[in-house]
Amino acid sequence: MHINKGIANRNLLSDCLSLLPSLSLSLSLSLSLSLSGCSKMGSQDVVSCEGIFVERSISESRIEQLGIRSWPKWGCPPSKFPWTYDAKETFYLVKGRVKIYPNGSSKYIQIHAGDLVVLPKGMSCIWEVNVAVDKYYTFDP
Ligand SMILES: *[C@@H]1O[C@H](CO)[C@@H](O)[C@H](O)[C@H]1NC(C)=O
Repeated sequence: MHINKGIANRNLLSDCLSLLPSLSLSLSLSLSLSLSGCSKMGSQDVVSCEGIFVERSISESRIEQLGIRSWPKWGCPPSKFPWTYDAKETFYLVKGRVKIYPNGSSKYIQIHAGDLVVLPKGMSCIWEVNVAVDKYYTFDP
């Protein structure tokens, strides 16, 4: 639930994509290079974008450690809608694919099935659900 804990001990990479198409190619290129470099070192990476934190493809033991399967579930078909977070939300994407565009930013982040995501309280963003999603979620009090 609190993936920010211990974040200082991990590699923190930026995983923002740019809305400008000419930039996003080189960004994702260097990103995949740095990601593969880090996974070789066997450390667990947390990527971030505009205050959103993501652990990519978390393990079964991480799922159990956080008790994710006891969280409420939510899903929706492909769609696009604005959302504001009144509380910090942590969710685990069981299936689907979504792009999150934080308001006021020219960046976005892509979330895939298997990712654990933390969205900060107060964030407004656009959800673009590209493939129908199912998620377990929880809010910090
Ligand atoms: C965020 O941006 C979307 C699209 O421009 C807008 O519909 C929504 O109201 C914005 N949210 C806030 C809280 O400003």
